[in-house]
Amino acid sequence: MRRVLDAFCGVGGATRGYQRVGVHVVGVDIRPMPRYCGDEFVRGDAIEYIAAHGHEFDLIHASPPCQAFATLTTGTNQGRRVYPDLIAETRRALEATGRPWVIENVPTAPIKRDLMLCGAMFPELAVLRHRWFELGGIRVEQPEHPQHRGRVAGYRHGEWHQGPYIAVYGKGGGKGSVAEWQQAMGIDWTSARREIRQAIPPAYTEFIARAVLDQRSAGFTPVQTSGGESRWR
Ligand SMILES: C[S@@+](CC[C@H](N)C(=O)[O-])C[C@H]1O[C@@H](n2cnc3c(N)ncnc32)[C@H](O)[C@@H]1O
Repeated sequence: MRRVLDAFCGVGGATRGYQRVGVHVVGVDIRPMPRYCGDEFVRGDAIEYIAAHGHEFDLIHASPPCQAFATLTTGTNQGRRVYPDLIAETRRALEATGRPWVIENVPTAPIKRDLMLCGAMFPELAVLRHRWFELGGIRVEQPEHPQHRGRVAGYRHGEWHQGPYIAVYGKGGGKGSVAEWQQAMGIDWTSARREIRQAIPPAYTEFIARAVLDQRSAGFTPVQTSGGESRWR
């Protein structure tokens, strides 16, 4: 079976999407992740791990911390936490492996905009959560961005707004229950809000993995298993 490395894996939102197409996923995170959903977990620095082991994988996914660029945490406020920009360093490490790779991040991050995914593209999700993907050595066709079905439900400026989407961020009132967050994101293996909030919906990476399999790009060879699922070998 083919192997995918999920660098900066968190609890494994991205990992789970790759697992859904039958690949073995190794996750690396600097923090302990007892609820990580992948097949193997390595605690350590993701960039160092990519440099040492990246070439052993068929695809490397990287989600460097995005707080430095997230709209909710940037601004002119002094005294806010400063997060290092790991994106450029991650890209250099990925390129050096010679393997296909994906960098995922928030819309304000300094990455190439090869693909944008939005929760509205996936009927089973109830988040918008726009994310950009920079791709190395693979191509994924940009799906049409459908019109959002409405607004994100919640209180804004003291007023309640109804809408089909859940706000999976922050901690304030009107943000939805943990069960609603899980359902909205397609994440059922953790109930820690912090972990769900940092994740991407598995549907995003499943979409990427299936597109790669369909194209047979980068030398991937999909085969049919007895269960009818595609697997990389
Ligand atoms: C945005 S979260 C990733 C979420 C993940 N893509 C998901 O879908 O669940 C970024 C993660 O990077 C981890 N991290 C930060 N610096 C790191 C480093 N130098 N090496 C490995 N992991 C790191 C954080 O602990 C955090 O879990």
